[in-house]
Amino acid sequence: MPIVQLAGILLFQNKSSKDKYFVNIIRTDRIRSFVLRAGRTTGGQQRAIDELGPQFLIPFQESVLDLQQVFSGSSHPKILEIGFGMGETTAKIAALRSDDDFLAIEVHPPGVGALLKLIGENHLTNLRLIRHDAVEVLEKMIAPNSLDGIHIYFADPWHKKRHHKRRLIQAEFIKLLVSRLKPGAYLHLATDWHNYAEQMLLVLNAESNLENTSTEKMSIETFSAADVASDLELAKESFKEFKPTLEQLDAKHPGYVERPAYRPTTKFENRGIKLGHGVWDLVYKKK
Ligand SMILES: C[S@@+](CC[C@H](N)C(=O)[O-])C[C@H]1O[C@@H](n2cnc3c(N)ncnc32)[C@H](O)[C@@H]1O
Repeated sequence: MPIVQLAGILLFQNKSSKDKYFVNIIRTDRIRSFVLRAGRTTGGQQRAIDELGPQFLIPFQESVLDLQQVFSGSSHPKILEIGFGMGETTAKIAALRSDDDFLAIEVHPPGVGALLKLIGENHLTNLRLIRHDAVEVLEKMIAPNSLDGIHIYFADPWHKKRHHKRRLIQAEFIKLLVSRLKPGAYLHLATDWHNYAEQMLLVLNAESNLENTSTEKMSIETFSAADVASDLELAKESFKEFKPTLEQLDAKHPGYVERPAYRPTTKFENRGIKLGHGVWDLVYKKK
């Protein structure tokens, strides 16, 4: 729960911690892609925050980070992850790809504690965390043309139509991501929600500075003419939500890729696959 609410700002403090890293200001004057769930940080997670936070948790700041300095002078490629959840995938990838450095962002405090615990248990040195809204982190802390890759796995799908405006993958956000990637750097997304996969495909394929690495051609199946934006919506200055065009619904599109070997499958994903549900991976390169 917020401890202070000012116009357009929420100030949070993790109840079980007086740790300065967990005092957090989040802007509310725009639609956010997350809801801060009440969730208890366990004793083990809290210990990890207290013991490892000072070394691995980077406080939010309003100025650009020196990424090399953040990783103790390492000049290895820098990969950003948005929304790591409880961090199991993040820790596995960081262990597997020890020649890359990973900066991972999440808003949910127990997730931050859980990943710090994994960092300690697995002696990972190439991972740093930020507990803040990734949109603001990208805007304020990440320099243009500085990242070698971005991972976004199972972003909240916001199933209901009236919530689609909360989906992270919208044209404006992708422009921000692309501006932070170096030329030739990659963007990797995965989702288990077909309609969101198709939204990702259409938004990313429409971004002129990205190239889809897929060789397959897809038709759109989960959007229909009823989802196309009305003239009234398009006329609104504030209208930013993704809606397909009729041309997009009729065309074939560069599509998905096989799951890259470095992305492990999660328990949740394996259960879904057994039930016949799909998972879609998308990989793009910045031109
Ligand atoms: C459905 S979970 C997926 C977690 C994880 N990537 C996985 O594959 O299990 C999406 C996560 O993204 C986080 N998230 C959503 N929007 C975010 C944002 N703008 N900044 C940081 N984290 C965000 C949520 O808190 C949530 O933990």
